[in-house]
Amino acid sequence: MSTIETTLAIVNNQPPVRVERRAVSEEESRRANGPDWDRYADEYQATHGEFLGDAGFVWGPEGLTEAEAGVLGDLDGRDVLEVGSGAGQCSRWVCAQGGRAFGLDLSYRQLQHSRRIDEQSGIRVPAVLGTATALPFADDSFDVVFSSFGALQFVSEIDVAISETARVLRPGGRYAFSITHPTRWMFPDDPDEPGLTASQSYWDRTPYVEVDDASGVVAYVEHHRTLGDWVALLAGHGFTITDLLEPEWPEGHERVWGGWSALRGRLTPGTAIFGCDLAAPRRVG
Ligand SMILES: C[S@@+](CC[C@H](N)C(=O)[O-])C[C@H]1O[C@@H](n2cnc3c(N)ncnc32)[C@H](O)[C@@H]1O
Repeated sequence: MSTIETTLAIVNNQPPVRVERRAVSEEESRRANGPDWDRYADEYQATHGEFLGDAGFVWGPEGLTEAEAGVLGDLDGRDVLEVGSGAGQCSRWVCAQGGRAFGLDLSYRQLQHSRRIDEQSGIRVPAVLGTATALPFADDSFDVVFSSFGALQFVSEIDVAISETARVLRPGGRYAFSITHPTRWMFPDDPDEPGLTASQSYWDRTPYVEVDDASGVVAYVEHHRTLGDWVALLAGHGFTITDLLEPEWPEGHERVWGGWSALRGRLTPGTAIFGCDLAAPRRVG
């Protein structure tokens, strides 16, 4: 285990954490990120809920909607799974398009927000507590699986997560997800000037780790993969990539969301959206 950087930081008004870069297992990632999202969920929904919309589908802080992007294809009558569904905003939009949406998330508190918005909006999304690396669904259950910044960058065993997705998708099914654009890994996660200067290697996959300074317990983890890693992962599990969207920062959009801002967004891509199809079996004869 190699620690290549250690600084002390206060993130999202939580107790002080040591920021490190070091290897972390899947179990450690899960044990950290579930409770972290539980702690952060109220603030997250209060800060971003209006931008997301109770039944809205945005792919990232740039505000590109699925209605504009059309990455998922026709949803009417389709069985759809959202992995890392949070409060279910995207899934409710899917329901409004005629899809049968289901959610899955690691955070109980996020799912409580999902239930709250279900009751308020009257659009109910069945959702289950779970992890992207062990989907509690039978093989061939869904026509579409997607994640909007959900789950994938919090998972260590990404190969298992993609394999699970391929398993629950029907042959020919559609898979799409958004993540922090891999090139952002080179820059400090800062919406202002410091976030414009590359300071670490794009090719260094060592996870970003926050450790509770008082207890020494890992409190939050993010994992990085390069664009090439994603292509190899998807192709290796039988997917054909059809889309890689890199939404531009819209003129006049002044929202600051973590490290995303107009200042950075005008110069570098902040979000990558992959769209792909699972291979359908060949007809014989
Ligand atoms: C940035 S939120 C995205 C949720 C929603 N799409 C939104 O825009 O608000 C990330 C979500 O991924 C969930 N998550 C993190 N690790 C996960 C895992 N291993 N499996 C499933 N969900 C996970 C978090 O609990 C959180 O709700």
